Amino acid sequence: MRKLFVIGMGAGNPEYLTVQAIRALNQVNVFFIMDKGEAKQDLVQLRKEICERYIENRSYRLVEIADPLRDQEISDYTARVEQWHAERAMLLEAAMAQHLGDSECGALLVWGDPSLYDSTLRILDRIAARAVLNFELEVIPGITSVQALAARHKIALNAIGEAVTITTGAQVAAGCMGAAPRTVVMLDGRGAFRSVMDQDLDIYWGAYLGMEEEVLLSGKLSEIAGQIEETCERERQNKGWIMDTYLLVRAAK
Ligand SMILES: C[S@@+](CC[C@H](N)C(=O)[O-])C[C@H]1O[C@@H](n2cnc3c(N)ncnc32)[C@H](O)[C@@H]1O
Repeated sequence: MRKLFVIGMGAGNPEYLTVQAIRALNQVNVFFIMDKGEAKQDLVQLRKEICERYIENRSYRLVEIADPLRDQEISDYTARVEQWHAERAMLLEAAMAQHLGDSECGALLVWGDPSLYDSTLRILDRIAARAVLNFELEVIPGITSVQALAARHKIALNAIGEAVTITTGAQVAAGCMGAAPRTVVMLDGRGAFRSVMDQDLDIYWGAYLGMEEEVLLSGKLSEIAGQIEETCERERQNKGWIMDTYLLVRAAK
């Protein structure tokens, strides 16, 4: 039977790969890479570098799949994403049927860890549910951007015995930050923290974590929000894209 590894590759630094991930890489015949267009070529490149660096004495094939665009005509966000997943599932299924032999092993290298704001496992569920192409699935965990953020700022995410929320910039901008004393915000890049400036918060911010271009800033949100926004703007112009993650910490009462 075909086997497919979903390998968490860590959030940006090739040295975030685990020993388990390296062992898995060395069993793979075909890597499937979703190509998200020119702006994200760096992310495709890192996947290629990881293969070159860690795979020893073994030939493997790379199959690039052009990532479909989300249909902006569909106004409901969830429906739009569902439609996009359905298209990606069909493309991946076709690529696996065409390029992966019956007893071969394929892999998808997922940024960070596949459990966190990533659609790969949902897409594979769709393929499995169709039951047209049978495959065995194994998931190898990776280091998330959240763990990288905490390590680079040398902080614990939670206060003793307290909850931590992980959410998106869109949720924060919509006023849905929640009541947890600490909140990790992902998928932002547009300064959603502006909408919580009325609260007494500290921020631990990181962009391009683990990469050469890494930028770290921390302090009182009200004092450094402008500096973070300027940094985002400058880096987006220099590099064409930005990925940032941050922890918001409510001041103790
Ligand atoms: C689609 S999600 C993928 C998350 C990924 N699965 C993980 O485990 O970190 C992309 C978001 O993750 C965060 N992110 C991923 N890599 C990052 C990095 N190297 N530096 C800062 N943020 C990062 C950003 O918030 C970005 O908008």
